Amino acid sequence: MSVKVAPSLLSADFSNLREEVRRIEANGADWVHLDVMDGHFVPSITIGPVVAQSLRPHTKLFMDAHLMVSEPEDHCKQFIDAGVNLVTVQAEATAHLDRVLRKIKKGGAKAGVALNPATPASILEYIWPLLDLVLVMSVNPGAGGQAFIPEVLPKIEYIAGQIRSRNLATELQVDGGINHETASAIIKAGASVLVAGSAVFKAENGMALIGDLKNMQNVL
Ligand code: DX5
Ligand code: ZN
Repeated sequence: MSVKVAPSLLSADFSNLREEVRRIEANGADWVHLDVMDGHFVPSITIGPVVAQSLRPHTKLFMDAHLMVSEPEDHCKQFIDAGVNLVTVQAEATAHLDRVLRKIKKGGAKAGVALNPATPASILEYIWPLLDLVLVMSVNPGAGGQAFIPEVLPKIEYIAGQIRSRNLATELQVDGGINHETASAIIKAGASVLVAGSAVFKAENGMALIGDLKNMQNVL
């Protein structure tokens, strides 16, 4: 089964988001990745639920919100009400990870946990049954266009192994620095969803990367 591709709007033309989402949909994207930043958990401030709500009627894409925000339990419901399909919270941003995951699922969305590069996978030990997705950050959150951090590859392999050995349907998403050069090692390590922002929206012929990434699995 080929990997799913979730282009990140972080690098899109924010003056033309409806068209940008239509463009990735027309080029084979499976998901649309919304990078939400609050200026506190990470220095940047990006978008809020109102952007998800305004885009919702214009795309059939699965909408995945990556909340790089402090106290995500205070914000997740707004994104679910806006029509987001999956809400991912940063493990480092809350003292109540189990509680916020249950709140997301109770609210009717799928739930994910994102791990910063330095965060060990052991934090997942007691919450596996709650996880629709694990997001392994392959850059330090807060900006697009950063270089892939290869030290996270063993973490991807470990988590892929845990998903297999526990016979879970949990998606393994990787986010940050993904392009033609870095993708094959990430797919080989076991990723099932790839997030790409600048390589899709800022590179020459970036839209073609969506199809290239989906086909890459077949040639590995
Ligand atoms: C980091 C963001 C970025 C974004 C992808 O806070 O989460 O990783 O999604 O950015 P690129 O693909 O440009 O590295
Ligand atoms: Zn992201």
